[in-house]
Amino acid sequence: MKGLILAGGSGTRLYPTTQVITKQLLPIYDKPLIMYPLSVLMIAGIREILLIVTKRDIDRFKQLLENGSFLGMKIDYIIQQEPNGLAEAFILGKDFIKNSTSCLILGDNIFYGQGFREILKECSSLDYRGGAVTFAYPVKDPKRFGVVEFDKNYNVLSIEEKPTKPKSNFALTGLYFYDNNVCNIAKNIKPSNRGELEITDINLEYLKNKQLKTKVLGRGFTWLDAGTPESMLEASNFVSIIENKQNYKIACLEEIAYYNGWIDEKALIKRIDKINKSEYGQYLASIIEDKNIHYKKKLK
Ligand code: G1P
Repeated sequence: MKGLILAGGSGTRLYPTTQVITKQLLPIYDKPLIMYPLSVLMIAGIREILLIVTKRDIDRFKQLLENGSFLGMKIDYIIQQEPNGLAEAFILGKDFIKNSTSCLILGDNIFYGQGFREILKECSSLDYRGGAVTFAYPVKDPKRFGVVEFDKNYNVLSIEEKPTKPKSNFALTGLYFYDNNVCNIAKNIKPSNRGELEITDINLEYLKNKQLKTKVLGRGFTWLDAGTPESMLEASNFVSIIENKQNYKIACLEEIAYYNGWIDEKALIKRIDKINKSEYGQYLASIIEDKNIHYKKKLK
C-alpha cells in the first residue's frame, strides 16, 4: 500500500501567518503539523509516501523530511499547482500509485486514540479485499465537513459535502483507504459548485458500487483538523497535555520507525546526535537509554 499526504492549499484562512509558509510546516506544540499525518501512515505500516505540496513550500518540506531514508522510508514530492480539491491527489499521484492500493491523509489532520494501530493495520490489508474505507467522527458543527448518514447497523446511507441541513452529526475525517480503482474514478470526476474535485464524489462512487465502509471513531478518540487559529491552538494544547502527562510523544517519527523495525539503533543514535539539544531529541535519547546503558553514559 502507498501513502499520499495532501499538503497543498493556500492557507488563506490563516493569513497573515501562512503568507510566507504553509500551515503544515508550522508547529503543533513541539513539531511541525505535517509530522502528525505522516505518523498515521507510518503506524499503518506504509513506507512509500507521496507528499503533495505547493511550489512555494516544496524545498522547505524537503529540508524537513528529505527523501525519508532517515526513517527507513521513501518520500517523494509533487507540486499541486492550484488548490483544485482533494480528489486531485489521485490524478497527481497516479504514476506513484501504479497498481497498488493507497491511503490518503490530509496534511492538517491529527488523530489520537488507543487501538488506532490495530484499526489502521486492518485497513492497510485492503490489498486483499478491495473497496474503500473512510472514518466518521461525531462533531458539533457538521456543516463544515463531508457528512455521513448511517442506518442502525452503521451501513452508509448517504454522504454530502458541506450540507446546509446535515443528516447526522458524523463528519468524514481526512483519512481514506482505497483500492486501485481510485485513480480511474478520480479521472472522471467533475468539479463541484465550489470549483473543486471533491473526495466526497469519489466516496459516492464507491457507495454506489456497494464498496464503501465507514468506521466510527467515537468516544475516547481524538480527531482534530488544524485549519483555523483556534484549532491550531487547541491542537497544540491537546498535544502538550498528553505528552507532558504520559511522557509519550504523539507523532514522534523516529520512534515509530524504530519500533516498526525500519531503522536500527545506529540510525536512531545518528539522528539523536543531530537533534539532541531539543526536548524532542532528548525524548529520542530516552528510548535508547532504556535499552542501552552505554549510550546513557555517553550522553552524560
Ligand atoms: C475536506 C473534505 C471533507 C472532510 C474534511 C475533513 O474538507 O472535503 O469531506 O470532512 O476535509 O478535514 P475541506 O478541508 O476541503 O474543507
